[in-house]
Amino acid sequence: MEQILQQIAIYQADIAAAQATDANALEEFRIKYLGTKGIVKVVMGQMKDVPNEQKREFGQILNAFKELAEQKYDDLKLQAQAAPAQAQANTPDFSLPGHPLHMGSLHPLTIIRNKMVDIFKRLGFAVAEGPEIEDDWHNFGALNLPPNHPARDMQDTFYISQNPDWLLRTHTSNVQIREMMKGKLPLRVVMPGRVYRNETISARAHCFFHQIEGLAIAENISFADLKQTLYFYVREMFGQDVKIRFRPSYFPFTEPSAEMDISCLICGGKGCNVCKHSGWVEILGCGMVHPNVLTNCGIDANKYTGFAFGMGIERVAMLKYQVKDLRLFSENDVRFLRQFAGAV
Ligand code: PHE
Repeated sequence: MEQILQQIAIYQADIAAAQATDANALEEFRIKYLGTKGIVKVVMGQMKDVPNEQKREFGQILNAFKELAEQKYDDLKLQAQAAPAQAQANTPDFSLPGHPLHMGSLHPLTIIRNKMVDIFKRLGFAVAEGPEIEDDWHNFGALNLPPNHPARDMQDTFYISQNPDWLLRTHTSNVQIREMMKGKLPLRVVMPGRVYRNETISARAHCFFHQIEGLAIAENISFADLKQTLYFYVREMFGQDVKIRFRPSYFPFTEPSAEMDISCLICGGKGCNVCKHSGWVEILGCGMVHPNVLTNCGIDANKYTGFAFGMGIERVAMLKYQVKDLRLFSENDVRFLRQFAGAV
């Protein structure tokens, strides 16, 4: 029954859109819908499979459908007769049914990225982007990962076969290097973009995802600035009650390095599946820019200090919208995407 109703809805749309520009098109419509083997006959034939208690309701639907097809045929007949005269007059017929326009919506990752960028802009950060196909130096070397550095294994890399020096960037930190190399200080910039890692695709991992990188370089920048910047971001993004904590970590390009957790948005810190019953969810890596990185980019490491952070955009979108499977973000299933219509 459900299936037949769905099918009828499709036919209804088809009927509504039908046009009869000439006698042939009109006859085609008649055969398709009202002919002896036409759709109306076929649909009426479904009546016998309908359970008795639903026959009355279903019968009404079928009759309405039949009338719709007949009425449309009459309309088309008039239209076809008028068509030659109309063509002569060369004026559009505004009474013809229009084609419905579907409203699009922003992709959830775009919505989250825009929110992030807006928050950092309010703190005076500029926005920059860089290439997704990168050379080894910008993605690794300049970031204090010399060849054979074990930390290169942290990020499984896709290399480009034509040139062993080229790769798909594994993080947005390459843009840090490009911004520092421009030589304009002080620097306060966020850098959103897509990154690639050779990972097996699952609900929790993908071979590409998105990050936003932050970098601030000036005289006298300290870890306190980093903390306060991130605390501001977190409260703007997730609400004033969210707590943060820093755990010591390791990245070759920052020293000291930390990972930052926020209190779990789902359970408020009590413990649930999302936070694996710890009450905390990791959202980013950060630290003070390593002096070697500054030196590699021609910046005087005795005069300048800076902080950097990098976070996954999918992770935040999953937390905010309670999306359980990372793959949904790249499958482009409109049933998923439509739910974000109207969100900004
Ligand atoms: N690039 C790191 C990553 O992809 C994140 C990071 C950025 C850490 C900047 C520290 C400073 O995991």
